[in-house]
Amino acid sequence: MDVEEANQPKKAATRELLKKLELGLLPYDDIKQLIRIELAKRLQCGYKSTCEEQVAEVLKLVHSLQHMKIANEVETLDSQLYEAPMSFLKIIFGSNMKESCCYFKDDSMTLDDAEIAMLDLYCERAQIKDGNSVLDLGCGQGALTLFVAQKYKQCRVKAITNSISQKEYIDEQCRARNLVNVEVVLADITTYETDDTSDRILAIGLFEHMQNYKLLLKKISKWMSKDGLLFVDHICHKTLAYQYKALDEDDWFTEYIFPAGTIFFPSASFLLYFQDDVSVVNHWILNGNHFSQTHGEWLKRLDANIVAIKQIFKSLTGNGEEALKMINFWRMFCLSGIELLDTTMVKNG
Ligand SMILES: C[S@@+](CC[C@H](N)C(=O)[O-])C[C@H]1O[C@@H](n2cnc3c(N)ncnc32)[C@H](O)[C@@H]1O
Repeated sequence: MDVEEANQPKKAATRELLKKLELGLLPYDDIKQLIRIELAKRLQCGYKSTCEEQVAEVLKLVHSLQHMKIANEVETLDSQLYEAPMSFLKIIFGSNMKESCCYFKDDSMTLDDAEIAMLDLYCERAQIKDGNSVLDLGCGQGALTLFVAQKYKQCRVKAITNSISQKEYIDEQCRARNLVNVEVVLADITTYETDDTSDRILAIGLFEHMQNYKLLLKKISKWMSKDGLLFVDHICHKTLAYQYKALDEDDWFTEYIFPAGTIFFPSASFLLYFQDDVSVVNHWILNGNHFSQTHGEWLKRLDANIVAIKQIFKSLTGNGEEALKMINFWRMFCLSGIELLDTTMVKNG
């Protein structure tokens, strides 16, 4: 994102800081400190002094979402995150190209091991059985789709994404791996309609891009076969739920990574308020350190391959400065994930 286009008016000092970040002029330790200050402000503003007030705040948000569209326009976000060059994503992600939390069960695990561990965990918790029809909503580079299609040969897997490059990549992978049990649909889930139903529906990292959960879950419930199961994986805070937008004119952090209104962070029990069309039968929490570590691994790979990455972005933009901005955007994306999801630092939040 061009920081000049940020939605919220900013103070001159804030604009100056954003410029420095774009050009990569600050050391990581300083950036981390700055992110922590913004996160502390978010907690200060979100936490209420009594349980009654806290619950009332969550319910206010639950009700306000009902008047919103299923999701806002996501063009800027998509072009940065979900239409990034595959040659770049292949460098920073693990070999399954998972663009979401990986599961570092023990210290010896590599990123590739942790991708597989998480994909296995999804299959176990979603109770996927060979022969099921499976729908992967917001499939990214097809980490789950390809994993399921390969592991359960009798499953038919339908994957939905709104990203052209993601669809092309998965189709290409299916051809390379001789997988004939995958269909990739290029569609916006908020407007997509079908009469097809699936035994298992999984949405990994999608709900953060949505806001009207009532309408979304109504829609998804129609795609579930009788006795079907829906498995949702989303980032959460233990108490707070919030739409990710600038807190004030000093807030350099929020819109730099995700434009205002494009990301929603539900609290850990937020989906319990949306059981009109589906009912919650199980609920697991995974420590945020796994996702923090995932972002850390992505950042390490980015920094270790900077020459090749500069070349990729330079041939994409035709311009050295634009290439540098893209690299620094991704660095910031990783640093934000490391800090936002790190629970080892948490004292009061
Ligand atoms: C955080 S990524 C997760 C990708 C994948 N599930 C994974 O775990 O690697 C979110 C995905 O949701 C997709 N997405 C977001 N909004 C969407 C929409 N309205 N319609 C279809 N796909 C959407 C993005 O293109 C991206 O593939």
